[in-house]
Amino acid sequence: MSSTVITGIGELTTNDDELGTLADAAVVVDGDRIAWVGQAGSAPEADERVDVEGRAVLPGWVDSHTHLVFAGDRTAEFAARMSGLPYQAGGIAVTVNATRQATDAELAGNLRRHVEEAVAQGTTCVETKTGYGLTVEDELRAAKIAAAVADEVTFLGAHLVPPGADAADYVELVCGDMLDAVAEHVGWCDVFCEEGAFDADQSRRVLLAARRRGLGLRVHGNQLGPGPGVTLAVEVGAASVDHCTHLEPSDVDALAASDTVATLLPACDLSTRQPLPDASALLDAGATVALASNCNPGSSYTSSMAFCVTTAVLQMRMSVAEAVRAATWGGAVGVLRPGARADLQVLDAPSTTWLAYRPGVPLTRAVWRTGDRVR
Ligand code: NIG
Repeated sequence: MSSTVITGIGELTTNDDELGTLADAAVVVDGDRIAWVGQAGSAPEADERVDVEGRAVLPGWVDSHTHLVFAGDRTAEFAARMSGLPYQAGGIAVTVNATRQATDAELAGNLRRHVEEAVAQGTTCVETKTGYGLTVEDELRAAKIAAAVADEVTFLGAHLVPPGADAADYVELVCGDMLDAVAEHVGWCDVFCEEGAFDADQSRRVLLAARRRGLGLRVHGNQLGPGPGVTLAVEVGAASVDHCTHLEPSDVDALAASDTVATLLPACDLSTRQPLPDASALLDAGATVALASNCNPGSSYTSSMAFCVTTAVLQMRMSVAEAVRAATWGGAVGVLRPGARADLQVLDAPSTTWLAYRPGVPLTRAVWRTGDRVR
């Protein structure tokens, strides 16, 4: 194992409450961990020295919401949407068809290519989901393929009732044989609680069945209109409710009074011509907000977390510090302190403010992921 001191850091965002944001700083990476953080002048020696010449360093992006086990593309659907057609949950079935026809090698190759694309842009922790299989066999292979590549894997058998299937029978299948098959390969279970997908009762059944198998819970909710997603997520103690595009004041209050994170997906809202969520209402109320890409072929085909941060600052009135924290902090990852996983990025910029000041400009200069320099 070798060590590297990254020095000459003009602005170091640590996400650690005590360390805060440092000027003229250095970080030592030893193996896959952060070994030291502090003022550049007091940094210890290491095997290798990298001088970033005044640039900003921050934790790698934590992309907590993607759907990357898929085949095919939906360019035509996107183009039709830009001409005025609405986004509908039913579009998922197009990707389900293409995914079922793809080989394991094709799905794994596509997943790896998208993860590499994200990592090159500063993402160091990637969650991804099943949900384009919707049979026991296809969901199981998606879970296995995802588990070999992603940091976190979520089972989303309750993404859509497959065309032609009976909804009650399908929920039964998800709660029984499907969860039995995938549980050992995934850490989380999610459900698309929305008109056109699963109602609150069906969603609750799936989530409770997943909890009995020891999985963490998440919900897709309030994406296409007001609905029961947030209420259900808070009721079952889900780790997050993702989308939160259409929130009632009572949803904001419920999130603020809970430990459930509101994960906002601004690239998806833009790509589906939805309004952007009211991040400041959530933050002002005291809710925890995360930002993620929702990279998928239907509603949000971008792997750029920087784009999400830029949008959150320019159009959702989040401060740069709020947006950067929402896109980097992930509990066990996303913090630069001794002992933490060595996931960090160097921007070709003197401060994180440039993420919004220079919108659309690729600013990722270098990336360390679990201690390895990957860019
Ligand atoms: O998060 N909302 C449901 N699932 C995805 C969309 C997937 C698709 O359209 O293929 C989302 O936006």
